[in-house]
Amino acid sequence: MKNTLIAPSVLSADFANLQRDIEMINNSDADWFHVDIMDGVFVPNISFGMPVLEAISRHAKKTIDVHLMIVNPDQYIKTFAQLGANNLTVHYEASTHLHRTLQAIRAEGMKAGVAINPHTNVNLLEDVINDIDLVCIMSVNPGFGGQSFIENTYAKIRKLKEIITRNGASTLIEIDGGVSDKNAVQLVEAGADVLVAGNYVFRAENPVTTIAGLKKLTAI
Ligand code: DX5
Ligand code: ZN
Repeated sequence: MKNTLIAPSVLSADFANLQRDIEMINNSDADWFHVDIMDGVFVPNISFGMPVLEAISRHAKKTIDVHLMIVNPDQYIKTFAQLGANNLTVHYEASTHLHRTLQAIRAEGMKAGVAINPHTNVNLLEDVINDIDLVCIMSVNPGFGGQSFIENTYAKIRKLKEIITRNGASTLIEIDGGVSDKNAVQLVEAGADVLVAGNYVFRAENPVTTIAGLKKLTAI
């Protein structure tokens, strides 16, 4: 049975009750905290920055999975390590020297992630696949929670899984955007290891039960 990792996206939390929502994740079947950092340049939205991540780290008792949607991610690698990030994911489209960036992330003791936008071909990652701990396939255009899932994602997962296997890599495949009980099983069947869920979890009547349901559904 597969242990699919569930990563609620803090972007959809209630920021006026952030500690409550962090404790909710601590006390749920969730595996990771997914934390979206947006700069208003790489994506058309600004989320939150260092002080908020620092506050999250103070209370979070699970892996902190930071998804950077910012230009020039290299200049903040050390800072994010100090703020408590366990995984640091940069966007392929924002990285000029991706190989160097991945080395720098690992040198700070973090897992190195690469996120790709819906238009980016997974084949572009083949030459660095052994340097990547986590590929985040965006199943929406990054910038906002609550968008509709892009169906082409399944084909991308299958292609990426084939690249990972062929190269003997142990890279995890994470899916981010529009994930719910409607597509979770199909995503895992295609090869997904980690499911990020924002609105599906936080807009639910009972987020803890919803996380438990997703965890159970994807143990296939
Ligand atoms: C989008 C973010 C996602 C977002 C997912 O740019 O990277 O992590 O929070 O939210 P949902 O699950 O609501 O699509
Ligand atoms: Zn994200």
